[in-house]
Amino acid sequence: MKIRVEDLRERLQGAEERPTEAAAYVLRHAAKGDPKSVLESLDDFAVNHGFLMNLGPEKAPLLEATLRSLGLRLRVLELGCYCGYSAIAMARNFEGEGRLISLEKSALSVAAASEIIDHAGLADRVEIVHGDSGESLARLEGEFDLVFLDHWKGLYRRDLETIEARGLLRPGSVVFADNVGPVFGAEEYLEYVRGCGRFESRNEVSTIEYTDIEDAVEISIYRGPRGA
Ligand SMILES: C[S@@+](CC[C@H](N)C(=O)[O-])C[C@H]1O[C@@H](n2cnc3c(N)ncnc32)[C@H](O)[C@@H]1O
Repeated sequence: MKIRVEDLRERLQGAEERPTEAAAYVLRHAAKGDPKSVLESLDDFAVNHGFLMNLGPEKAPLLEATLRSLGLRLRVLELGCYCGYSAIAMARNFEGEGRLISLEKSALSVAAASEIIDHAGLADRVEIVHGDSGESLARLEGEFDLVFLDHWKGLYRRDLETIEARGLLRPGSVVFADNVGPVFGAEEYLEYVRGCGRFESRNEVSTIEYTDIEDAVEISIYRGPRGA
């Protein structure tokens, strides 16, 4: 059963502290080495035990399809790991050299996501970097094929500007931003990515995870420092 719209605000409270409990649940219920079973277990926990701010089963296929359209030996950057749901959805598609670096500021989430990703059998494909995205981005080098923005929405623009300034994108890299629908107030980010002239951007309407509330993702192809 889906969480009711009117319960969402209440359910979101406490979600930041829930990854430890979610990890214990996954380790008890999901088949080891089976990413699909781990994702299903996280969905089950979110719906029946306590809301989790995972990408969720409606939007994960959009992210996975975007990733697969770029190839399978990718270098991917994620901002906001939480329980590792989207990291697992992405990393299960990798072949050979495919690697994901996920930036996460909460020590509790880093510990829980590490356990969950290890249980999914994907620990060798995902590196979680503990710390604030602003500080971690300042230390990253090299180009990424895909950047997934899913941390605090007010930081999307600031961090994308840093990503551009540090040369972490190549022409053709895709920036995929979650939660740009009406609820989360991502207007500043949308204005930037659609108006700066360096991205070709499109919007896909979806729903907030485990609810019927409207949400959207923005999928933006980088055209290089001087635009298309
Ligand atoms: C919506 S959750 C991420 C969900 C995850 N991508 C998934 O779908 O499984 C947001 C996460 O971003 C983290 N976060 C928020 N601000 C951050 C920052 N400045 N740097 C790094 N992580 C941050 C939070 O601690 C939280 O775990």
